[in-house]
Amino acid sequence: MGEDWDSAAATFDEDADHGLRDPAVRAAWAGLLLPLLPTAPAAVLDLGCGTGSLAVLLAEAGHRVHGLDASPAMLAAARTKGAAAGVRLGLVLGDAADPPFAPGSADVVLCRHVLWALDDQAAVVQRWTRLLRPGGRLVLVEGDWATGAGLPAERCLELVLRHRGQATVRQLGADPELWGRDVDDERYLLVSLSGP
Ligand SMILES: C[S@@+](CC[C@H](N)C(=O)[O-])C[C@H]1O[C@@H](n2cnc3c(N)ncnc32)[C@H](O)[C@@H]1O
Repeated sequence: MGEDWDSAAATFDEDADHGLRDPAVRAAWAGLLLPLLPTAPAAVLDLGCGTGSLAVLLAEAGHRVHGLDASPAMLAAARTKGAAAGVRLGLVLGDAADPPFAPGSADVVLCRHVLWALDDQAAVVQRWTRLLRPGGRLVLVEGDWATGAGLPAERCLELVLRHRGQATVRQLGADPELWGRDVDDERYLLVSLSGP
């Protein structure tokens, strides 16, 4: 990804959408994601979980969340955050491109802001869809950012529809509550509720 995520971990949560420290931002992400999940407790995999903000949010709602990340410092932050929230997270050091979870073991595969930077995204998406149980849900939050980095929604949708019978994209850029500020680049949620 070209980033030193271990070094970034200490300050990562300072961005409003990363740390979800502002109650309004936190509520916006809860309102976006929680209605997409099955009745708790669902088995959720948060791939590239970072400091665990979304993992904690979902665990607080009663879900059984495993967060995977390649950065030990990010996982340490997630562990601290989970403990402070009083929730149990399964935290795994590993490669989101090839997650070490059993096929068909997840009700939900969630990934925010990681797929865009992985190599061979087509193969990665295929691996992620294989982690889902029948009826499982794929939930991706990505963007095509003003920095020039990113994964356009149209391309992401095309990758997912190679392996899933259905998927929808919702644009998120017009909702400043999610980001804690106005944004003018492409940010989106892709949800696939049903398999092939
Ligand atoms: C932009 S952050 C997003 C963190 C979290 N998903 C969120 O939305 O708050 C990217 C995260 O992906 C992790 N990451 C990057 N490449 C990875 C890989 N190949 N396998 C696992 N984690 C990876 C980084 O360590 C970092 O924690």
